Amino acid sequence: MKKDFLTLSDLSSEEVTALLDRAAALKAGRDISACPLIGKSIGLLFDKTSTRTRISFQTGIYQLGAQAIYINTKDMQLGRGETIEDTARVLARYLHGIVIRTYAHSTIEKLAQNAAIPVINGLTDLHHPCQALADMLTVKEKKGRLKDIRMAYIGDGNNVANSLIEAALLTGMELIVACPHGYEPDRKIHEKALSGGAKVKVITSPEDAVKEADVLYTDTWISMGQEREVERRKKTFKGYQINTDLLSLAKPDAIVMHCLPAHRGEEITDDVIDSPQSVVIDQAENRLHTQKALLEMLIK
Ligand code: CP
Ligand code: NVA
Repeated sequence: MKKDFLTLSDLSSEEVTALLDRAAALKAGRDISACPLIGKSIGLLFDKTSTRTRISFQTGIYQLGAQAIYINTKDMQLGRGETIEDTARVLARYLHGIVIRTYAHSTIEKLAQNAAIPVINGLTDLHHPCQALADMLTVKEKKGRLKDIRMAYIGDGNNVANSLIEAALLTGMELIVACPHGYEPDRKIHEKALSGGAKVKVITSPEDAVKEADVLYTDTWISMGQEREVERRKKTFKGYQINTDLLSLAKPDAIVMHCLPAHRGEEITDDVIDSPQSVVIDQAENRLHTQKALLEMLIK
């Protein structure tokens, strides 16, 4: 039975722990000779731009012994009306797995339902689970654990925030999201996490959110696909910036995270993202290690 990774909750807590341990081992250089995916082909189907996701998957797939086939979906027959269902059925005859970055989450659900091979979510409007894997590894490395770590997420309740809510549920991390009214994370994802016992709060005050925080996290105010809302969003999110004043309210040893790309001067200031408390480059590196562990787990 194939296993997909469409949202973080496709994994159990035990699987997340095993995956993070494996990623740490791969990062430490253990088992570097292992090429578990030798002779395989993984498709990377991208509807949106990418630096980290695309390059870390391409590199990781190569390091595991397989080849990555990157396809901008504009160059596929999908753009001329071929259905996602037919595309899925055909690709499953050539490939051993698909990583897809697209808009509607329902598109990857349709792809996964019709492809007899694992489908990995490389970002949708609703979830960014590969990012959350790297984020969990980064917090674990820097703070020694995830359970009861207090993370304050400041800004838009977007795909990254939704996946962090699922990470809180799976790890026992405490998450406080500060966002303006109307920009909360997905209500269903939040409610499901709460009913599973997750410690997740959504409030409006960034100052209250960062009190006693071990980790401060932010992401762009304007996600891919929201380009028509730029002016409205810039006004709405003005007070939701991680700057030195906000950072000074957190624990003195708090770390600062950002999934990148950063919009310096908007959701985060130069002095904070370039400060010793910032771990954003280590966090980006961890995309490679966690995704290799994920590919090993899913692709047979
Ligand atoms: N964080 C992240 O997913 O970056 P890219 O958009 O560059 O892939
Ligand atoms: N929320 C951002 C994340 C980019 C990695 C977006 O969807 O554009």
